[in-house]
Amino acid sequence: MNIAVLGYGVVGSGVVEVIKKNKNSIALRAGEEINVTRILDIRDFPDSPDRDLITKDPEQIFNDPSIKIVTETIGGTGVAYEFTKRALMSGRHVVTSNKELVALHGPELIQLAKQNGVNYLFEASVGGGIPIIRPLSECLAANEISQVMGILNGTTNYILTQMRKHGKDFNEALKEAQMKGYAEANPTNDIEGFDACRKIAILSSIAYNEFVDYREIHTEGISKITSMDMQCAELLDSVIKLIALSKKAGDKIYVRVSPMVISKTHPLASVDDVFNAILVKGNAIGDVIFYGQGAGKLPTASAVVADIIEIVKNVNANNRYNWERRPYSNVADTKEMETQLMIRTVIRNREEARRFIVNNFGDVRFLNLDFPGSEDQLVFITERNTERNLMEKAERLKGIASIKEVANILRIETE
Ligand code: HSE
Repeated sequence: MNIAVLGYGVVGSGVVEVIKKNKNSIALRAGEEINVTRILDIRDFPDSPDRDLITKDPEQIFNDPSIKIVTETIGGTGVAYEFTKRALMSGRHVVTSNKELVALHGPELIQLAKQNGVNYLFEASVGGGIPIIRPLSECLAANEISQVMGILNGTTNYILTQMRKHGKDFNEALKEAQMKGYAEANPTNDIEGFDACRKIAILSSIAYNEFVDYREIHTEGISKITSMDMQCAELLDSVIKLIALSKKAGDKIYVRVSPMVISKTHPLASVDDVFNAILVKGNAIGDVIFYGQGAGKLPTASAVVADIIEIVKNVNANNRYNWERRPYSNVADTKEMETQLMIRTVIRNREEARRFIVNNFGDVRFLNLDFPGSEDQLVFITERNTERNLMEKAERLKGIASIKEVANILRIETE
């Protein structure tokens, strides 16, 4: 089986490497040998061991009838979209790690694959090397899924871990994540939660058998998290993680990406550094967890190559996802969800601020802060209520003379 790789970046070069390195075991599993015969990239790679395969001319791929599978590891929604459509329309299977493209044009591309009797597979688009798309859609197919909760971005998990465990500063940790090849070309997509947002949209679409549009998902990132927040979480025997949460209740789907305070006893709390984990709740299996490296060259290539093998094994099988766009959306406002908040304020007058907070929120728990820099801080935990009610109350803290600033508001996960 001859394949072409579009985009020779971190993941694309990893795909070529894994196919060469594991040639024999891959051939045994796939039933035939898999060879990369062309690589497309606009850049020059004079020192690459694959330089003879690299071309800047896409026609060398699209005019080659021996190429039956195309790997799209270009990223983004520009040329990647055009090449994907062209490949599918020419009767070629496409395998990708491109979550942006799957989240934006998934329904059309899946439909196009169906019409042309080929597959569009994207295991690597979520969780890097962790098998999650196929397990969710096939191995857990007997279940009604009620919740998917995950740490889905390696870069932010790496940053939060380095800040918490080694006291590193945000930018230093981000630079390391970039050097290790975890971060997106534009790291804002990691830091502001946009990458995790696309991934939970894809997982929700698979879990609930209907397309969830990422543009409807409430998304917050980690750029406002400080070491002060982390120390407060520590007082609660908890850690702060960027959590992608998706729940189904009746027809309604609630999806949110936000930093959360989670107890150290929670199964996701010990998922550190570049590791990702996804906790799925099914009505037959109960809880199941998927854990592994969520970003990086070879882990992500591992998932891409697994999709290639899947296609070679079942070359006549056809896409299996039901992602038609509907005229209405079941995605509901996450403000209806119940939560608890940890609110950090900077105060001018401690006693007055405490009185106002108790009058406003009722039953709250103030944290006993005793670390350097906490002298002007007042941090408290609210009771459990709908997010709408709690946020309305939090809004009233602004403009109070005794409270200088509401520095951060974090949700607490108790389930
Ligand atoms: N930037 C992504 C991450 C890469 O950090 O998880 C994998 O999708």
